Amino acid sequence: MNRSGISIKVYENRDQEAAAVAQRIADLVKSKRGKGEKAVLGLATGATPIGVYKELIRLHREEGLSFQNVVTFNLDEYYPMQPDSDQSYVAFMQQHLFDHVDIPSENINIPDGTLGQEVVDTYCEAYEQKIVNAGGLDIQLLGIGRTGHVGFNEPGSTADSLTRLVTLNEVTRQDAAPAFGGLKNVPSQAITMGVGTIAKAKNIILMAWGEKKAEIVKKAIEGEITIEVPATFLQELEGVEFVLDKEAASLVS
Ligand code: PGA
Repeated sequence: MNRSGISIKVYENRDQEAAAVAQRIADLVKSKRGKGEKAVLGLATGATPIGVYKELIRLHREEGLSFQNVVTFNLDEYYPMQPDSDQSYVAFMQQHLFDHVDIPSENINIPDGTLGQEVVDTYCEAYEQKIVNAGGLDIQLLGIGRTGHVGFNEPGSTADSLTRLVTLNEVTRQDAAPAFGGLKNVPSQAITMGVGTIAKAKNIILMAWGEKKAEIVKKAIEGEITIEVPATFLQELEGVEFVLDKEAASLVS
């Protein structure tokens, strides 16, 4: 039984799941535009949200959905990482969303993987402040890693952690290895929003699909709240939704 405050929506397949999340985002963008306001989106990379971005592009092209009033903050970026590298999250976001819709480029924020070590802390504080200044995140999209990480908040991340430089877990690096052409090429660090940054979002949508995610999804929803599985901190928050396909939801009681 789901004793946490997390609401769970299960869809027949990942396309329907993606379409439902894209619609939620489109509704927010339109309602904010109607009020002359900006929609502030927290975005994720990885395989999980690609279908959402595809559907948002379709809504833009075929149904005239405008993103002129959208501000985005991405969750994380590898460190070090050059934005023009194929593996950067800048490249990922351009390929899967930003090059195909009309978000003003000055409204796009992705942690900077090119900074010198000595300025990273100051940069992370400024990233955090920029989210606050934008009015806070209206919707934060999340995937979940096999370690139970959200963003790159690996096991050991505290509930009040903020944007910072972190060391990647070995499981996470192994999962990233194919994209980097081998484990040795995967950066060992990343800049990520913290669990506490994510927690401040007005709505959090964690997506997962496929049976590979079933076990960690069950743990995140039903497991003991622990620093060892950072996604379990979501149980303590209001406004958290898990949007799943049947396979990812298969072990949830
Ligand atoms: P994935 O990664 O979307 O590629 O499964 C999710 C994550 O590691 O957060």
